[in-house]
Amino acid sequence: MKNTLILSILIMMASCGSKHISTEKVNDESKIDSLIQLMTLEEKIHMIHASSSFTSGGVERLGIPELVMSDGPHGVRMEHGRDWTPDKTDKDMATYLPTGICLASTWNKNLGYQYGSVLGSEAKARGKDIILGPGVNIIRSPLNGRNFEYLSEDPHLASEMAVGYIKGVQDQGISACVKHYAANNQETERTKVDVIVSERALREIYLPAFKASVEKAGVNAVMGSYNKVNGQYSTHHQHLINQVLKQEFGFDGIVISDWSAVKDTREALLYGTDIEMGTDIVQLPNPDYDAFFLADSALAMVKRGEVDEKVVDEKIRRILRVMLKTSMSGTKSPGQFNTAEHQQTALKVAEEGIVLLKNENLLPFKPNQFKTILVVGNNAVYKQALGGGSSQVKALYEITALEGLKKYAGPNTKVLFAEGYIPTNDLSYDIKLADEAVLAAGKADAVIFVGGWIHNYDQTVWDGTAFDMEGKDKTNLKLIYGQEELINRIAKANPKTTVVLMGGSNVEMKNWMKNVPAILQAWYPGMEGGNALAKIIFGETNPSGKLPMTFANTHNEYPSHAVGEFPGKDLRVSYAEGIYVGYRYFDKQNLEPVYPFGYGLSYTGFSFSNLKLTQKSGQVVVECTVTNTGKMAGAEVAQLYVAPLNPLVDRPVKELKGFEKVYLKPGESAGIKLVLENEAFGYFDEKSHQWKTDTGTYEIQMGNSSRNILLKESISL
Ligand code: GLC
Repeated sequence: MKNTLILSILIMMASCGSKHISTEKVNDESKIDSLIQLMTLEEKIHMIHASSSFTSGGVERLGIPELVMSDGPHGVRMEHGRDWTPDKTDKDMATYLPTGICLASTWNKNLGYQYGSVLGSEAKARGKDIILGPGVNIIRSPLNGRNFEYLSEDPHLASEMAVGYIKGVQDQGISACVKHYAANNQETERTKVDVIVSERALREIYLPAFKASVEKAGVNAVMGSYNKVNGQYSTHHQHLINQVLKQEFGFDGIVISDWSAVKDTREALLYGTDIEMGTDIVQLPNPDYDAFFLADSALAMVKRGEVDEKVVDEKIRRILRVMLKTSMSGTKSPGQFNTAEHQQTALKVAEEGIVLLKNENLLPFKPNQFKTILVVGNNAVYKQALGGGSSQVKALYEITALEGLKKYAGPNTKVLFAEGYIPTNDLSYDIKLADEAVLAAGKADAVIFVGGWIHNYDQTVWDGTAFDMEGKDKTNLKLIYGQEELINRIAKANPKTTVVLMGGSNVEMKNWMKNVPAILQAWYPGMEGGNALAKIIFGETNPSGKLPMTFANTHNEYPSHAVGEFPGKDLRVSYAEGIYVGYRYFDKQNLEPVYPFGYGLSYTGFSFSNLKLTQKSGQVVVECTVTNTGKMAGAEVAQLYVAPLNPLVDRPVKELKGFEKVYLKPGESAGIKLVLENEAFGYFDEKSHQWKTDTGTYEIQMGNSSRNILLKESISL
């Protein structure tokens, strides 16, 4: 049991005294005060840095437990003991959810909550107090190696999906740890690079998901990122952490550094780091955690009177506050893992996150329509769960595309396989495999090509050839292993070819997309991904995913490359594009993307009607009707964009400010109602350093993609 006598007395005091939240809160704070008074300085220092690979120190004498943490954002990572030695048993196999970008592609806030519930329940069952997710960093460039873990190029979509996720985790009595704060939008030189970014871009683009995590979801922990922002390390940053996160946003939880992100004792003490985690400055396997910046050197600094002990007390207060809400609350259900229910959530997220990009009357396949279907591509059999870096999951199982397609094809259809290409360290093209696949394609009734990206060539190491991988960025969006030529040859051999792309971002499409009648973006769809893909291809599921990022053809077309810098030079990267990230840039420059933000097809059709705007007490209530005009049940995402007309300052053409997903039978209609608060019309004014909403005319736009606005009406503020 984690609580000793002292603690249980304190908890008893709180529980019997607390009739409602405010009493409980006062009780907790007074309880924390009494605990802090009992602690020695040494015991306090012991709590503000790592005590092992994934724990921070406790105080056994007072019954204060260690805080136990675990990666990652889409599944509870395998056990590492206390010294980074991965367990070889299978007791730590877990539910491998679709990765963050697939979750965001569902645009389903309730699914975000269910997703977080699975993570929280599985973390709890494995004895964890904090799950190190969600990752909410904005997709600034499609080359960022960790985009697969993140959510969107748009702060509103990222915020809404993060809030559901965090509530799901924390309703299990576990803490979420939203990461990486802040502006960690590349992997190249991530531990040293200095991000030069305007306050307005921070406020409007890079910080909103963190703000929402604090203000709307009450997140208990925030992970400071490795990089610098405007000259100071982000994980101990006077402006970003003390002023913005803790003061302005009112964050009362714990700032945990990324592993070995702390670079200076005094800054970590004074500029907001509450717990220093890491491994680089300790020698495994006999680590010396007292060598941490917030260990002996912090103790010495306080003893010399250079930093007031109250600074340490504030860190302890935050840690105990979170502990009393979770690991020390003593009132948690046991948690479960690898349950059928969790696996069903994984399936649901994949089904709703896969995006149908193109379909010229090929999908869905009708039952028994084809006698032989050929599946081509190593990604149809490649298991992704252990790749990607710290977000890796030792999945209980992983249904590949080939397995799913075989399962759902039906008894009268033979599903054949030709590898077509294989991952190699030198990205070479295997002409023999390609020729065999092309030959087989010509004989099949239909072909499903499964390609795109992988995480890293050898999933047991983090070096070598890697694409969607922590610690590395892609160098371009060109299809690897000769897939582009292979797709064109296969399409020529068989016009009934569907291309399925996996990965954490798009690929270059211009040279092949016109040659195939159907394209699906499957991201990394998790352990049930193969089943979800097959259910969509065979029509059991109607796809409803929408792109959470703009698909352009080459990385150079994106603003981070065309205007800003990526990944920068001399350990400095300029976000010169400012707020013009993603569709904000393509709209402003009037550039045509390959597929726009918010885009995704369905097997049925939808109409939008009856737009009605009501302005009352500072809010704008937006209502409209969505109708399923087709023959198949399906889901549509009604997206609300606000477009300032003739703004007084430089502003995006439009910005996503609301969305709602509705599920409709053929002919059925649903009423959409979205409420816009005043800040939905605002922008951050750097001169006055505050949010402003100018009077003027704004167009309210409703559509099913940022480039397919179906209803609009102007209002004046
Ligand atoms: C890594 C990652 C972070 C992860 C942590 C622990 O460096 O940046 O996302 O949670 O270390 O593995």
